[in-house]
Amino acid sequence: MSLRTVPHAGGKSFTILQPAGASDSDRAAFAASVRSGLLGTPKTLPWPYFYDEQGSRLFDQICELPEYYLTRTEDALLQDHADALVAGWESAPTLVELGSGSATKTRRLIGAALRRYGTLHYVPIDVSPTFIEDSAAALVRAFPSLRVTGHVGDYRSELQRVAERLPGPKLLIFLGSSLGNYEPDDASSLLRQLAWTLNPADRFLLGADLDKDPAVLEAAYDDAQGVTAAFNLNLLARINRELGGNFDLDRFAHQARYDPQRRRIEMHLVSLASQTVTVPGARVTATFAEGESIHTENSHKYTPDGLRAMAAAAGLEEEAAWTDARGFFRLQRWRLSVRM
Ligand code: AVI
Repeated sequence: MSLRTVPHAGGKSFTILQPAGASDSDRAAFAASVRSGLLGTPKTLPWPYFYDEQGSRLFDQICELPEYYLTRTEDALLQDHADALVAGWESAPTLVELGSGSATKTRRLIGAALRRYGTLHYVPIDVSPTFIEDSAAALVRAFPSLRVTGHVGDYRSELQRVAERLPGPKLLIFLGSSLGNYEPDDASSLLRQLAWTLNPADRFLLGADLDKDPAVLEAAYDDAQGVTAAFNLNLLARINRELGGNFDLDRFAHQARYDPQRRRIEMHLVSLASQTVTVPGARVTATFAEGESIHTENSHKYTPDGLRAMAAAAGLEEEAAWTDARGFFRLQRWRLSVRM
């Protein structure tokens, strides 16, 4: 683990904690996932690998798309209810954010918390060192009284480390309906793991996308400008770049399908021809029939009852919730269940 204090214009600085030498094992894990995913039936590739530099840039563009209502709806909720969302403590809780990315929406909460409490410690956790560094620099510039300690790494392991060291209460933040990318069992175990790090004075703020008209959902995941298609196809481009694969991106097409039973959007890459692809860095050769797909992502959509049930199963309960007028998106503040 390396600890860097990054000096910044105006005398402000922020701290970044980053595990040392992770890149070799990261590459081996990527290769192993690609190998098992392409040899499986049906073929799959794991969604966390969307987010290399290029994929993260494309995801930022997705968040701006007219069809992708999630980001702007959640941001409006954060803006409208920021004061209530950060209220409830005598002095500032530490804001700990999982998968903080560019932390654009979190500014609403940081601004409201600083107005209410005067000082604030913000602890973003993200796999991307670039995101942590750039967002921390922008935040200390915008909020001179803010203290930032960024953690680079997987939030499931980093959160435990962070939580053990915090002196006082925290507001744990998990925005963007990122929970929806986990399979239901994995989402439940993640929630149990998060709940384990909470104390009675802590709160957990979760942003979740609600189930809705399939046409709205499918448009959000298959936009007219083709940015989501580029985001999906970048996974193949990344395999070519990092593992020496020979995927021909013109011979795969992006597809977004809504599954009403499972309440989820599935993203696929459909082979447009019968073809063989070799990925030397993953020691795999995969054959594709025309029309065969690689399943790359699920994005689960929720109901308020379903969310409350998930909270209960993790030993949590809803303290308050906020939904937009169209009923598209929901923010909920959870606490440890008093009945446990
Ligand atoms: C990050 N995650 C919540 C996004 C989602 O909506 O499932 C990822 C995404 N995939 C396609 N568009 C956006």
